[in-house]
Amino acid sequence: MIKMILAVDLGNALGWSDGTLAYRDLKLDMARFKALTTNSTVVMGRSTYLSLGRPNGLPSRRNIVLTRRPYSEIRGQITGDVEIISSLEWVLRHDSAARQTVARTDREPSDTWIIGGASVYDEALANGIVDEIHLTVVHATCEADVRLATDLASWKLFILREAKAGRIWGANVAAHELDGDFFTTYIVLQKAP
Ligand SMILES: NC(=O)c1ccc[n+]([C@@H]2O[C@H](COP(=O)([O-])OP(=O)(O)OC[C@H]3O[C@@H](n4cnc5c(N)ncnc54)[C@H](OP(=O)(O)O)[C@@H]3O)[C@@H](O)[C@H]2O)c1
Repeated sequence: MIKMILAVDLGNALGWSDGTLAYRDLKLDMARFKALTTNSTVVMGRSTYLSLGRPNGLPSRRNIVLTRRPYSEIRGQITGDVEIISSLEWVLRHDSAARQTVARTDREPSDTWIIGGASVYDEALANGIVDEIHLTVVHATCEADVRLATDLASWKLFILREAKAGRIWGANVAAHELDGDFFTTYIVLQKAP
């Protein structure tokens, strides 16, 4: 399954162009992110990878970094034990191969998580390749200069629009939480099979 995990504030803010997040210390959200993505594949844009400050990417996960640049240009930047891909096509091919393996062997399905940033989220949403979205809405308006173009903060309207477009998402409000200084709502949105 192709899954996406992200947190937006009421203005769809994601973070700062230096890679810092719009809101800090969402401890419950970070713990959930870790629990959900560990032992899976994570896919991220080059800026998000650089902002991790971990050349080998996130531990106990297969780390995939998206870039359109030739290897000669990124050699000094992407230095660790991560894999590099040049388009989201790879994600579709990888997911299709994983589904075939599951069908053949009865193995547990392995998930591919899209973990940011804005450009990758927006492209994946526009292309309709995501089966499940794990969205945390932070009930605040934070300072930020990177925002999602897709309006996910108005998630009820987003679902209505998706349904109207025939993509038909189901939604489940999994938790309302006080997380650090912020009130948050964690929602799981699913594409109908
Ligand atoms: N709130 C959250 O949940 C969350 C999660 C993650 C990140 N963030 C925030 O998101 C922001 C970063 O987002 P961003 O949009 O600036 O950067 P980004 O999406 O992390 O990375 C952008 C780069 O990824 C590569 N790329 C993107 N789409 C691609 C594609 N389809 N094919 C090949 N390469 C592709 C390009 O690299 P090249 O230039 O090398 O070609 C592009 O310049 C930061 O503020 C960060 O804090 C927030």
